Amino acid sequence: MRWNLGLAYLAALLGCASEGSAADTTIVRDGETGFTFSEYQAAFVIGQAITFRVAVPSPAPDKYDLVFQIIAPTAVGWTGLAWGASMVNDPLTIGWASGSTAVVSVRRTTVRTQPQVYDGATVQLLRTGTRVNGTHWQITAKCSGCSSFTTTGSTTKNLNPTGSNRLAFAYSKTRPNSASTAAMISVHDVYSYWDHDFSTAGNIDFAQLVQKNA
Ligand code: HEM
Ligand SMILES: *[C@@H]1O[C@H](CO)[C@@H](O)[C@H](O)[C@H]1NC(C)=O
Repeated sequence: MRWNLGLAYLAALLGCASEGSAADTTIVRDGETGFTFSEYQAAFVIGQAITFRVAVPSPAPDKYDLVFQIIAPTAVGWTGLAWGASMVNDPLTIGWASGSTAVVSVRRTTVRTQPQVYDGATVQLLRTGTRVNGTHWQITAKCSGCSSFTTTGSTTKNLNPTGSNRLAFAYSKTRPNSASTAAMISVHDVYSYWDHDFSTAGNIDFAQLVQKNA
């Protein structure tokens, strides 16, 4: 008995998954927007996390749109999601707060310098679920072109709508100084990777929810 308890305790300390899931995400139903999201909590400093959520249509057509949510404490100057788990050759959706306005900007780069504005993926901010308040800023956006994109040459990467996908984020404590989607972005202080389970992110009423929250 003692031995079993000890093992369970050790497993908990090591953060071992007890449910047998390979991904790093949990399922969340967002009461505000009505979307079911798969959620990852990305620690960016000790004791503080940025929440990244993904919702996909179910069943998902080819080249499906997705909805993502970023919930960031005010301390986050900007944060970005790299849909191909790399700084280079994939769409980067970057968010920040400019005064009381939440901003989202799509960028892309082939080199590890400031990514430029990219129109190969488009985002639509949803009114519901997007805000800036005294403690956080939050973005809810639909993206067309985040789930399927070219990487290098003619290689296309398709994120699996019913499986796990490797994603990455970057964080900077430095806030861009305007609400322009082309605002200057300073280099990150932290970046990291995770496996995001899209199989728990399915929404049968995806299109209606987008419309309702727009
Ligand atoms: C001014 C803006 C930026 C600069 C100058 C910059 C620069 C760099 C550099 C030099 C590295 C290599 C670090 C190392 O090897 O230790 C790196 C890695 C990385 N950056 Fe950026 N970065 C910028 C913006 C971004 C943005 C907006 C994202 C969005 C998510 C991002 C995501 C990443 C990731 C995931 C890595 C890990 C290596 C990789 O996947 O390529 N970066 N960055
Ligand atoms: C501020 O926004 C965050 C993130 O959306 C939310 O969790 C929190 O409840 C909000 N605080 C107030 C006072 O409304």
